[in-house]
Amino acid sequence: MCGIVGAVAQRNIVPILLEGLRRLEYRGYDSCGVAVHNGGLQRARSVSRVAELDMQIAQSGFEGTTGISHTRWATHGAPATNNAHPHFSPNRNGDQTVALVHNGIIENYEEIRSELKALGYQFESQTDTEVIAHLVNHMYDGDLFRTVQKAVKRLHGAFAIAVFCKDEPHRVVGARLGCPLLIGLGNGENFLASDAMALAGTTDQIIYLEEGDVVDVQLNSVKITDRNDIPVERPVNTVHAYSGAIDLGPYRHYMQKEIFEQPRAITDTLQGIEGFVPSLFGDKAATVFERINAIQVLACGTSYYSAMTAKYWLESIAGIPTNVEIASEYRYRTPAVNPDALVVVVSQSGETADTLAALKYAKELGHKHSLAICNVGTSAMVRETELSYLTRAGVEIGVASTKAFTTQLTALFLLTMTLAKMRGRLTPEQEHQHLKNLRHLPNALQSVLALEPNIIAWAESFARKENALFLGRGLHYPIALEGALKLKEISYIHAEAYPAGELKHGPLALVTEEMPVVTVAPNDALIEKLKSNMQEVRARGGQLYVFADSDSHLASSEGVHVIRLPEHYGELSPILHVVPLQLLAYHTALARGTDVDKPRNLAKSVTVE
Ligand code: G6P
Repeated sequence: MCGIVGAVAQRNIVPILLEGLRRLEYRGYDSCGVAVHNGGLQRARSVSRVAELDMQIAQSGFEGTTGISHTRWATHGAPATNNAHPHFSPNRNGDQTVALVHNGIIENYEEIRSELKALGYQFESQTDTEVIAHLVNHMYDGDLFRTVQKAVKRLHGAFAIAVFCKDEPHRVVGARLGCPLLIGLGNGENFLASDAMALAGTTDQIIYLEEGDVVDVQLNSVKITDRNDIPVERPVNTVHAYSGAIDLGPYRHYMQKEIFEQPRAITDTLQGIEGFVPSLFGDKAATVFERINAIQVLACGTSYYSAMTAKYWLESIAGIPTNVEIASEYRYRTPAVNPDALVVVVSQSGETADTLAALKYAKELGHKHSLAICNVGTSAMVRETELSYLTRAGVEIGVASTKAFTTQLTALFLLTMTLAKMRGRLTPEQEHQHLKNLRHLPNALQSVLALEPNIIAWAESFARKENALFLGRGLHYPIALEGALKLKEISYIHAEAYPAGELKHGPLALVTEEMPVVTVAPNDALIEKLKSNMQEVRARGGQLYVFADSDSHLASSEGVHVIRLPEHYGELSPILHVVPLQLLAYHTALARGTDVDKPRNLAKSVTVE
């Protein structure tokens, strides 16, 4: 979603501001812009890609030592140049004096806009952001830091902002509430960004701001105050290892690279695991796990589907009642609360606005314990939960989540096993066997990845379709949902997933020769039921595309296309079965010529509700 970069230096910082935007492109955006101080305020904006902005700037000899840049994902107002950030606010003579970029949503912007309009401020955009620029300008008292401290108190909603002004040429002020913002420390120069990735190659010394912090970034100092305007020190972290993530290697897209990284990502997620022990989830986990009697999982998107899969495991293996809910639904309803249910948030980014709000709400409702399964150790979600397990997928750049999903499943399986063991539902022999299966999982995944050429052949015919159905049963129903989500996200083919037993209750009406029906068909206890559902599809002329296990005796025939995975992988089978669906979506999108890593209208990290 939106991205922020800011810099104060003694050299031209335009290349840093642009490179930062390039590194944030993966988050999804529809316009971008840069503003610098070079005596006055100068700005360039584009509704195209960062590369186009770069060209515009190169042609105009645009330079400066202080500045901010932004990628915008439209919320208030269409993706148009006048709505792109940075936003300016002029003084009475019409000279631009304040430049500002913003991530998030200001809920009371209309009220503030009316006030400012009455004072004579003119608005050239439909954004909530321009309101903050004018507000800062209006409240400016000669000290930008002090002004921003006061101005943000007027704002309701979620925001991260970076602002500079004409009268203080070597200063950028930042503030965060509900959206991430961090400081990058340099030598005689300092930076701001919404994501450490933006500053890779510039600095690895990072300070993460806390909720309500305001920061004064100058050439040789950074000063932070908390929500009560009290000066605070925040720890400095050394953050590296981003350069590998940016490098595509032999792959055409980040999504393809990330699909193929899954064996490594799972190996890393399992690193150091010798047994299923509560301490994997934090020091207090043993006590917490003793106390809880149920689980409430909250998540969005792909993370929600990993949680849905885990419900099958948690209930059948650990015997613990588990409820899984979409975070944006949970946060606005009145659930019957079981305070002893462990709240588990599942998130790749750890910053998804709805999941964070749902976590906060669950705590307010009286849930005593919380756990985050997350890919970013420094994220708000990890900071705000009592327990955590970090998936070690590495940076995920493709908007369509792949390696984050399979590592989340791995972590949720570890949680299941740990709870099962504590509840006397796992013998030492079973523990040994599950550990063995987990360790072999990366190899099993390699065999599935080797099926790519067969899947490419299918993708050619999928690329010509506009609709697809996905079927699964039991543990693999959420995998069918995830497969359909992947296909629609990046190929724009309308795809829906159903539990196969529901076919007769509606979707069968859609089945014709034109309808490809992708079937996730592991050789588990439900295979015979699933075969009957497949017959129902064939009888209506539907084309079946079946992912079967090699030991399931399912063979290709007229209208039935079968790709065989290795032998059935038991409880961990969903982790294998999702991979061909990822590859099918990827190659179908490739054949349709879509922007695989940055699908239209979507963002990687959804930091607004
Ligand atoms: C966005 C991304 C998805 C992701 C979802 C939840 O929609 O495009 O890939 O699954 O957010 O994100 P999270 O970071 O909380 O897992």
